[in-house]
Amino acid sequence: MSDNVAVSVRDLHVSIDKKDILKGISIDFPKNAVTAIIGPSGSGKTMLLRSINRLIELLPRARVSGKVLVRIKNELQDAYALDPSYLRRKVGYVFQKPNPFPHLSILKNMTIGPMLNGIAKGKENLERLAEEKLKEAGLWDEVKDRLHEAAWKLSGGQQQRLCIARALALQPEIILFDEPTTGLDLYNTKRIEELMVRLKEKYTIIAVTHSVDQAGRIADFIAFIYNGKLIEFGSAASVLKSPANELTELFITGRVLDGVTA
Ligand SMILES: Nc1ncnc2c1ncn2[C@@H]1O[C@H](COP(=O)(O)OP(=O)(O)O)[C@@H](O)[C@H]1O
Ligand SMILES: [Mg+2]
Repeated sequence: MSDNVAVSVRDLHVSIDKKDILKGISIDFPKNAVTAIIGPSGSGKTMLLRSINRLIELLPRARVSGKVLVRIKNELQDAYALDPSYLRRKVGYVFQKPNPFPHLSILKNMTIGPMLNGIAKGKENLERLAEEKLKEAGLWDEVKDRLHEAAWKLSGGQQQRLCIARALALQPEIILFDEPTTGLDLYNTKRIEELMVRLKEKYTIIAVTHSVDQAGRIADFIAFIYNGKLIEFGSAASVLKSPANELTELFITGRVLDGVTA
């Protein structure tokens, strides 16, 4: 396997209550790049993302088969053989709806994970880590004077950047974003898009987006998922400018795919 692969998914099948949701997906996500996953709603984008860090196991009726390899400490490892909480630290997840611990302070949102996981010890080290990661997520200047306020007081866009900073504090290598800018204003959407692009220097970014335009702004690679199958994967420029598959072309030009079978 190439050194350039951060996540390798092989023949991934997911079913829930015997309904096939993912129907044999194979894809290699390049390291230190942004890959956008696009596709109509209901096509399985979230399930693909959740299969990678095993959040899917929180759905007890879901059945998963196939293989997911994740590059951690520069070695491709079987995600389903790792301790799930370790896997989820190294492969972070940012949800569509920001989910900070609403009643904990901004600072505590940042320090609780590293404290519980022994990533930093002692107040000073924990606070230094919090500052470093809030800076990395582009939130520090907005919160440095209100670190002890409850997280719910932040705006939606700030809460989302707090969630990104919180994921960064757990020292991930791969970060999965599930439509992270849905419902945010243009300013915050732009901040988070720029952040995803900046973060690829240090991390591998895989981002589900509802917006083809957003994929065009942030992605190096694009995967188009439809009806539980990977229809097309390639460089963002080639997928957007000259898609190889007719379904991809229909989707990126905003036409309806209902009833078209892949
Ligand atoms: N908790 C669930 N129980 C049963 N089916 C689900 C559940 N979550 C999602 N699904 C089904 O799985 C399919 C893919 O969903 P999802 O991955 O959320 O799609 P997308 O993110 O592309 O909109 C859909 O048909 C959806 O109805
Ligand atoms: Mg989804």
